[in-house]
Amino acid sequence: MSRYNVLKFNVVPSTMDLAKTYAAQGYPEWTVILATEQTGGRGRYGRSWFSPRGGLWFSVILRPKFEVYYTSLIGFAAAVAVVEAIRELTNLEAFVKWPNDVLIKDKKVAGILVEATLLADRVEFVVLGIGVNTNISSKEAPNDLRNRICSLKELVGKEIQNETMMVAILDKLSLLYSHIPEKAHVIIDKWKSYSSTIGSLIRAKVRGREIYGRAIDVDSLGRLLIRTGEGAVIRVDVGEVIHLREVS
Ligand code: BTN
Repeated sequence: MSRYNVLKFNVVPSTMDLAKTYAAQGYPEWTVILATEQTGGRGRYGRSWFSPRGGLWFSVILRPKFEVYYTSLIGFAAAVAVVEAIRELTNLEAFVKWPNDVLIKDKKVAGILVEATLLADRVEFVVLGIGVNTNISSKEAPNDLRNRICSLKELVGKEIQNETMMVAILDKLSLLYSHIPEKAHVIIDKWKSYSSTIGSLIRAKVRGREIYGRAIDVDSLGRLLIRTGEGAVIRVDVGEVIHLREVS
């Protein structure tokens, strides 16, 4: 635990905002803001993130030395770290859905949010938020979410130690992070090996546009390559992916 400076809180609006405040005050890399509950947990695309007591909700301050260009790899490293920690601690087969959702049996068990603060053309700091549905009850989630999420406790039938899970994630993440940029292929190769997206028929929502096709690969920066029905290959850097059922 001592390698990371963990600041623990009870109920907070969002660990993202707290971490940003600490980062702006000069707190060093690997300062971690951990909360038992969030009242305004945030997800990607400004969505809210269901964060009741029982789950693992934390944000990490990072101060990358690499070019802005590589920032997206932090999310991929975090997704790999979460998948590996879940697999090791629970034996459950977790997968990644592009770009960095973590799923078990097609239900979301963890999410990752990367928010970078820029100073001119460089990254001043990054706040990496990780939320893992460890010991929450999916039945208590809002209606629209209930059937799309799962929790580790529900799947393994016993309580998960949140801090053990967090340290396992951080240990894996710090090693993967040290590979950016020179050995970033290690992150991408691992990500691909855990991917449920590659090979799937998908619908991608990209900047207001919809693309249908088969996900065929991700490149060295994590961009998704989609082969459309017409045979064109489209490279997507941001967006949301829905896996479609194959009709044979
Ligand atoms: C997503 O999949 O949409 C990303 C979810 C990220 C949730 C985590 S929980 C800890 C941190 N604090 C937040 O408000 N969000 C992130």
